[in-house]
Amino acid sequence: MKKVCILLLAVQCYITGAEVLPDKLLSIKATFPFASSVLKPNVTPFDHCEKNVIPPNVYNIPEYEINLDLPAEERWTKVVSDRRAQIIALIENIKQNCDLLFGKSLFWMVNEFLPMLTETLPIEYRKELLGISSVTGLTVGEITLFNVFYEFFSVCTSIVARNENGVLYHGRNLDFGLFLGWDPANHTWQTTNLLKPLIVKLNFTQNNKTLYHSINYAGHTGILTAVKPGKFALSIDERFKLDGGYVGIAEWILGMRNQQWISFLTRDVMEKCNSYLCAQKMLSKPPLVAPVYFILSGIRPSDGSIITRGRNDFSIWPLGQKQRNQTGNWFLVQTNFDQWKKPPFYDDRRTPAIFCMDKEGNKDVSQTLKNVLSTRPVLNKLTTYTAIMSAQKNLLEVWIQSCPDPCWPW
Ligand SMILES: *[C@@H]1O[C@H](CO)[C@@H](O)[C@H](O)[C@H]1NC(C)=O
Ligand SMILES: *[C@@H]1O[C@H](CO)[C@@H](O)[C@H](O)[C@H]1NC(C)=O
Ligand SMILES: *[C@@H]1O[C@H](CO)[C@@H](O)[C@H](O)[C@H]1NC(C)=O
Ligand SMILES: *[C@@H]1O[C@H](CO)[C@@H](O)[C@H](O)[C@H]1NC(C)=O
Repeated sequence: MKKVCILLLAVQCYITGAEVLPDKLLSIKATFPFASSVLKPNVTPFDHCEKNVIPPNVYNIPEYEINLDLPAEERWTKVVSDRRAQIIALIENIKQNCDLLFGKSLFWMVNEFLPMLTETLPIEYRKELLGISSVTGLTVGEITLFNVFYEFFSVCTSIVARNENGVLYHGRNLDFGLFLGWDPANHTWQTTNLLKPLIVKLNFTQNNKTLYHSINYAGHTGILTAVKPGKFALSIDERFKLDGGYVGIAEWILGMRNQQWISFLTRDVMEKCNSYLCAQKMLSKPPLVAPVYFILSGIRPSDGSIITRGRNDFSIWPLGQKQRNQTGNWFLVQTNFDQWKKPPFYDDRRTPAIFCMDKEGNKDVSQTLKNVLSTRPVLNKLTTYTAIMSAQKNLLEVWIQSCPDPCWPW
């Protein structure tokens, strides 16, 4: 039991207060030295909708094949050996931030105790992590950390929208790095900066055929954003809740292993499901380690939904249902707050997103999504990438984002 407590403390180092985020956001103002430079009083989070956004071609996102027919240990070799230096830089940065926040003594626990957690992961995923560890030279604990902390530290926006011809598009911003090292000199989050060079496009293949495409950070093996051509597309957004991650991890360690890790569940869904309904069912039912929002789109005009998951419950918000202040019924916007609740004043990305979706309209939905996902504060200092998907159109476009000042920190 003592070991478990220490492990939880270590995990806490990386998942700083996912459950107490609102308090953290408020207290950060008072406690963090950079607060005054972050919260410039004359930066308004939202003042206009972006127009005619053209994704910059300056970054070429590298593409890799993940061959599921290979032994699990070998699947990630190419990706992670190409990005080895950047993965190490990221882990190093997290270590430093961790020392800064919680004192020097904590990071060694990652190596001491996270391998315990690795032992309990599904065998195939465990072997993949072992393979990545041997290619990068990072410890199994560090690689495991890298693979589970996305479940707790991301703040994102996902939008499903239908054009006037009934074709569905699915857009998302992946925002990551909150509290992990604000750089007061150039007004960026260090961790966010370090993640950008890790962004890769993956083709998961089996029997020499592409099963699905995803956007990953090199070294992370779960699925946060992916499309299965002709079938469905999905993305996940973090959900903050009091009985969230900590309890789930504690139970997992104590042996209640019927719960699923979110980004491994989504990977199972991409691999096993061949329809929107199968995916919806598989994302709704199993008990989870932490609460989350799954955003799902299919190929029929009505195939869009937000699945709000508690650890043991779910509710489905279907395309067609309108949010407060929403005019059109052709889109759904999900950030990090329940649809039936008002977003908090210190992080309202939903209201501007809905306002701009309505304003832009459903003629060219792919363009509308590019504009809205590039509109501040939907776009903010934490945004690492924007992706536009369509299962029906077999589309997956992605580009690395940046948000020059004036820009909201989250
Ligand atoms: C990934 O799939 C796309 C589309 O199917 C293809 O054009 C591309 O060449 C593939 N890339 C790799 C690295 O396999
Ligand atoms: C901001 O600082 C980070 C490192 O702390 C660096 O990687 C990045 O390039 C800097 N950005 C600018 C615009 O100077
Ligand atoms: C995939 O294709 C290669 C040659 O292109 C072939 O040698 C191999 O047997 C194929 N694998 C499967 C599982 O069909
Ligand atoms: C949303 O609608 C309410 C009335 O239903 C209105 O008072 C409020 O100003 C609207 N907010 C925005 C951002 O349009």
